[in-house]
Amino acid sequence: MSDKKTDENYMSIALDLAAMGQGRTSPNPMVGAVIVKEGNIVGKGWHRKAGTPHGEAVALMNAGTGAEGGTLYVNLEPCCHRDKLTPPCTDAILGSGIRRVVVGMPDPNPKVAGKGIETLREAGVQVDVGVLRERCERLNKVFTKFIVTRMPFVTLKVAQTLDGKIATSTGESKWITGPEARKHGHMLRNFADAIIVGIGTVLRDDPSLTTRLEDVENARDPERIILDSTLRIPLDAKVLNVQSKAKTHIVTTLVAPTAKIKELKKKGAEILMMEGDAIKLPLLMEEIGKMGLINVLIEGGSRVNAEALRSGVLDKAAFFIAPKILGGDDARGSIGGSSPESLDMAVPLFDMRFTRLGEDLMVEGYLKKPEEYQPGRQQPSDSVAGLQPVAGLQPAGGLPPRSRSNGHRRRKRHKK
Ligand SMILES: NC(=O)c1ccc[n+]([C@@H]2O[C@H](COP(=O)([O-])OP(=O)(O)OC[C@H]3O[C@@H](n4cnc5c(N)ncnc54)[C@H](OP(=O)(O)O)[C@@H]3O)[C@@H](O)[C@H]2O)c1
Repeated sequence: MSDKKTDENYMSIALDLAAMGQGRTSPNPMVGAVIVKEGNIVGKGWHRKAGTPHGEAVALMNAGTGAEGGTLYVNLEPCCHRDKLTPPCTDAILGSGIRRVVVGMPDPNPKVAGKGIETLREAGVQVDVGVLRERCERLNKVFTKFIVTRMPFVTLKVAQTLDGKIATSTGESKWITGPEARKHGHMLRNFADAIIVGIGTVLRDDPSLTTRLEDVENARDPERIILDSTLRIPLDAKVLNVQSKAKTHIVTTLVAPTAKIKELKKKGAEILMMEGDAIKLPLLMEEIGKMGLINVLIEGGSRVNAEALRSGVLDKAAFFIAPKILGGDDARGSIGGSSPESLDMAVPLFDMRFTRLGEDLMVEGYLKKPEEYQPGRQQPSDSVAGLQPVAGLQPAGGLPPRSRSNGHRRRKRHKK
């Protein structure tokens, strides 16, 4: 094997290890590491959860003294900062006698952004950067968006008929897609930190919004976030009574009745109060980012989906399309509201993937932001001031994280 092929081969193993942490490392990135000496793998590791050792540290512990003189493959630049519970990985690497480090991509965290690589090079370690870079960037898209903008990465998930309907004229939507597609939908929940639905869906379907994956070890529920500006939610709604370790948050506004707030708190719900009489999604996303929830799934319905698209908060869409035609102007479309006048206003997607799930098709892609396909177009009026929405990746050292002092008091959190 050529040196390039050898490097790609070990980086691929590091990436597979990193992916074992999917859905469990927030707000940290997924990191996997492999240590190779004289053509043999002598250590492996991955980051399992925030607060536990980083992937490189685990691999070094696994290799022990065998790491000396070896090569470390890691999908993300090793950290060098000392403001976390875990010590800097650069110290551990230098202490181990590793001679060469192969890095998939620089860390977009402004606290690292090349400094980890610099530290290692200054100490005489050979560092090569950019092996399987695209795969590395794709794996940590969620982390990259969050660490650069402090906003969560948002995916819209829709289950629809071939003609774009998510429910019948009476609101019936169970089930549009088949078991394989629904199982995949639960995998998306398993990896998400939070799931958002509108009160319309809660009132019509009474969903529990849990992850139901019997054959997956350690499956877990995302935190549930219900958009309900006047607190129409019934106290016997499943989301308020379900057995789950994940919290239920009700996002509401100042017009919500105080007595209902008290009752909801008694049921264990967290109330997130937004200013004004409407819930503005970009501002809500800012709050969700502050909670450390970095991977958010929106599961509609039609009105919430429309507002998510209009407000520019979406990064990705996953449409599950069933081979069924429902028809009818009165059936709910996937994205409600009114349509723009011109096709130029349709939001383009890129990096598309098409996956067959039983009889259904999953179509996934990343959304371009308005300024990318309509130069000069203004941001939606409720965008967070000064915050550039990010589509896909920002280059390392791009936007600085938002300072805490910037998060002016636009909401009050009512504690339980
Ligand atoms: N197939 C699928 O993938 C799928 C998924 C989910 C739901 N559904 C179906 O969709 C239907 C419900 O859709 P829907 O459009 O009636 O209701 P919805 O989108 O679930 O909820 C809309 C309601 O949420 C509240 N809301 C608060 N803030 C909002 C904001 N920023 N943007 C939008 N809404 C906000 C509003 O009520 P307030 O003004 O009272 O706050 C609004 O009327 C049901 O039939 C359900 O079965 C299908």
